[in-house]
Amino acid sequence: MIAENLIAKMQTVKALLSGARSLVVLTGAGVSAESGVPTFRGTDGLWEEYRPEDLARPEAFSRDPELIWRFYNWRRELVGRCEPNPAHLALAALERQAPEMLLVTQNVDGLHQRAGNRNVLELHGSLWRLQCTVCTYEEENRTDLPPLPACPRCNNLLRPGVVWFGEQLPAGVLSTVLDTVAKADVMLVAGTSSVVQPAASLAHVAKRSGAVTIEVNLEPTHNTGFMDFALHGRAGEILPQLVEGI
Ligand code: APR
Repeated sequence: MIAENLIAKMQTVKALLSGARSLVVLTGAGVSAESGVPTFRGTDGLWEEYRPEDLARPEAFSRDPELIWRFYNWRRELVGRCEPNPAHLALAALERQAPEMLLVTQNVDGLHQRAGNRNVLELHGSLWRLQCTVCTYEEENRTDLPPLPACPRCNNLLRPGVVWFGEQLPAGVLSTVLDTVAKADVMLVAGTSSVVQPAASLAHVAKRSGAVTIEVNLEPTHNTGFMDFALHGRAGEILPQLVEGI
């Protein structure tokens, strides 16, 4: 009985994705987990070993920039060895089928772009972006960095181009995302615990605007209860099944 229900649910969700007029997808660390990128809150997640307030806050960077750069260089080196997994490839195939699809990601690993998605908004920035702490200089950079990288323009300290706890999202990104989500007729949320704002509220905005909301996640989340459809399991297994043949 359960298997039949699941098959029926998958078929319905497939039809919703293929028939979407305006599709928005929100992803989190769970979509990159099968590439070997640690999640934040799952078992063996980053925050199980480190405290976010110790490493992902501007105050932590001001207090000990060398420690924070060691953490981010470790993540750049680790993520640099990771490849897109079937979940990423499925979302790239989905965009090819629905060219107006917007992929909003909380991930900073750049794996969606490497998988082929073009229309990607990085809510929390990117491990591969460097920003000057003083002037407006910024660059995409995938090289090995020194312990305290300096701005080539003004020689002040560079910081990772990611959004830390307590910081504002990149200017204009949130308004673009909210506008698009409010116009969506289908929203797919994959691989996020839905605890960090404002990302966690986007599905609420979509639903209030009349969109059908779908969750794909390894386990139930804070948002599962109000999603129209919740498919629990590995993104690398479910997303390819949802996208196959549409
Ligand atoms: N397939 C699907 N879901 C998975 C998988 C998988 N293979 N592996 C783990 N998950 C799920 C976990 O069950 C969890 O609910 O992915 C979710 C990951 O949640 P988090 O680790 O909290 O990551 P995320 O939701 O992306 O965090 C949001 O918090 O720390 C900040 O800036 C950081 O962008 C991050 C934000």
